[in-house]
Amino acid sequence: TEIDIDAEDLDLGGHPHYMAKEIQEQPESVERIIRGRLDDRFGVARLDGLNLTPRELRGFARVKILGCGSAYYVGQIGATMIEELARIPADAEAASEFRYRNPIIEADTLYIAVSQSGETIDTAFAVEEIKRKGGRVVGLVNVVGSTIARACEGGVYLHAGPEIAVASTKALTNMAVGFALIALALGRVRDLSNADGQRIIDAIRALPGQIKSILDFEPEIAEHAKTVAAAKSLFFVGRVRGYPVAREGAQKFKEISYRHAEAYQTSELKHGPLALIDEELPTVAVVPRDELTERNLAAVQQIKARGGAVLAVTHEGVDFGELGVPRIVVPKTEPELDPILLTIPLQLLAYHAALTLGYDIDKPRNLAKSVTVE
Ligand code: AGP
Repeated sequence: TEIDIDAEDLDLGGHPHYMAKEIQEQPESVERIIRGRLDDRFGVARLDGLNLTPRELRGFARVKILGCGSAYYVGQIGATMIEELARIPADAEAASEFRYRNPIIEADTLYIAVSQSGETIDTAFAVEEIKRKGGRVVGLVNVVGSTIARACEGGVYLHAGPEIAVASTKALTNMAVGFALIALALGRVRDLSNADGQRIIDAIRALPGQIKSILDFEPEIAEHAKTVAAAKSLFFVGRVRGYPVAREGAQKFKEISYRHAEAYQTSELKHGPLALIDEELPTVAVVPRDELTERNLAAVQQIKARGGAVLAVTHEGVDFGELGVPRIVVPKTEPELDPILLTIPLQLLAYHAALTLGYDIDKPRNLAKSVTVE
């Protein structure tokens, strides 16, 4: 497949790798996806490209999100946003599994295909299967005019700009922001109030500045990366909103640092994997300041009690007391949007771990930018 890329996009612009460049571009790429799409008067997102009337939007009883790899993990972030803001049952599934299991397609489900390249064959096939069975499918796609974008009946373009590094960063962030916009649109034709819609809009608008402030902490994150890169194996844990963040953090780490990294729900640790914890196995724990903070802290305490090192990705005001846990502190946004910002330092953590280990960051072994063949 061919992608339109200008010479300017291929210029590293002084960055050592495309991945570094793409991470740094995120304040501007987030600006691009929200530009012209926030309606302050009605506290809603304007998404004309979806080609759905308010009545149609209101008619969906369920949302099903399909993507592969990191796009699937961000789909999980999106499903939680949609459930929280629109109160419609929503879930994400790997398109690569969906296409092989004779899925039940429902007329009152909104299907959302999510893909940076728009060429991932598993996701494209899932879209065809949904259409063939009469389902309504829209896209959350970066590459304009790509196979998936064309196959969908409407959608939201990510406007992240060309992404070259195999390990996706800015496109994923824009997918998460795109889901926040879709959640607003679905919520505001239901029970989400104008005031609550406005609360989310204000928070979305603040994201680029907040991302910039996370990027300012790169030197500190690089130091943490040196420590975690020394481990042979790592856990990434989070719960509810934080779990897909942990999955994506582990994925990025695996892709470019070739270290074993396993994501787990923090709540599930005690049901088995806690047995693995010792001095050799560090954990990156996502501990936002929200209604689950105390439970997350209890889990961190259990890990520490077994000799496990913990690096927390957390917010100001989370009290780790005497636990002696190194922290990456991320700016707070509205709870529903926290996953967007919590993911950013994990990109930098993976990047600097790979840099320390001396691997080929932009073209990791065994991987292609988009998987277009069976
Ligand atoms: C992300 O870092 C990965 N390279 C990979 O999981 C990717 O997200 C997946 O293959 C889906 O690609 P797409 O977004 O182009 O469909």
